[in-house]
Amino acid sequence: MTNTVSSSALDDRDGVIWLDGRFVPWREARLHVLTHGLHYGGSVFEGERVYDGHVFKLAEHTRRLHDSARELGYRLPFTEDELMDATLEVVRRQGIGDGYVRPVAWLGSEHMGVAGGDASVHVAIATWEWPHVFSTEAKEQGIRLGTSRWRRPPPDTAPVRAKAASLYSICTLARDEAYRSGYDDALLLDYRGQVAEATGANIFLVAGETLYTPVADCFLAGITRATVLDLAAELGVRAVERRVRPEELGQFDECFLTGTAYEIQPVRAIDQHEYRTGKTTITMMESYDRLVRQITA
Ligand SMILES: Cc1ncc(COP(=O)(O)O)c(C=O)c1O
Repeated sequence: MTNTVSSSALDDRDGVIWLDGRFVPWREARLHVLTHGLHYGGSVFEGERVYDGHVFKLAEHTRRLHDSARELGYRLPFTEDELMDATLEVVRRQGIGDGYVRPVAWLGSEHMGVAGGDASVHVAIATWEWPHVFSTEAKEQGIRLGTSRWRRPPPDTAPVRAKAASLYSICTLARDEAYRSGYDDALLLDYRGQVAEATGANIFLVAGETLYTPVADCFLAGITRATVLDLAAELGVRAVERRVRPEELGQFDECFLTGTAYEIQPVRAIDQHEYRTGKTTITMMESYDRLVRQITA
């Protein structure tokens, strides 16, 4: 199974991208090669989904973009309201019904040096049609994860609460390694050796009809993860946040990943452990699908 990838490269499309307060032609939304964000990782971003032309949890994502920038020591030059208006307008101009939005903020090219200092802060928002991360077959049957040798770092060594581009080198290494080994994605353990998350999504495990998800103390506590915990409470499904050890993985019946891009993605195996897409996973998937369209309709 492979990622669903559009045939046209991301820098060669029609339409507009919102860049620092202006709508610029898609192909002209370019940066200089001596940009801090490129050399030293001075960049934070978001991933949002559009359903029926509406951006799901737009306020939460926009707040997190601001919070991520603050974690990295800089302030965005646009308010949350300005960024939300820009997002809605770029979605409208691009005519997106169901798709993805990528806001990104980065430090500019005033200085060459590790310090962010007084570098300019830039923001762009792009959107495009993107139905699923994984194939339809994978969405139905579940994906296979391999446990990675790469781990999530301790909170005193990296800005683990931020959706910071610099942290994604771990995810890229793990994802590429997983593909080379024939898996669809990687399971990352944390610095203590406990189950953490996948490369772009949080993880839930199901035993009986109870959901378990690792405590998010050194990785992104996803907006979708929070949505699933809220849904579980509404549906009367017991959900427990607790440490999960890899030795326990054989004791669960079902497993799924949660993320804005992944949505709720069933997992059919982690290494040698197999799971079924059972009643609890299906209930959560159906409820999530209803929610993203109902709330925004
Ligand atoms: C590493 C990582 N963990 C978890 C998530 C899930 O976060 P959310 O549900 O807010 O999209 C994402 C996706 O943004 C991610 O990249």
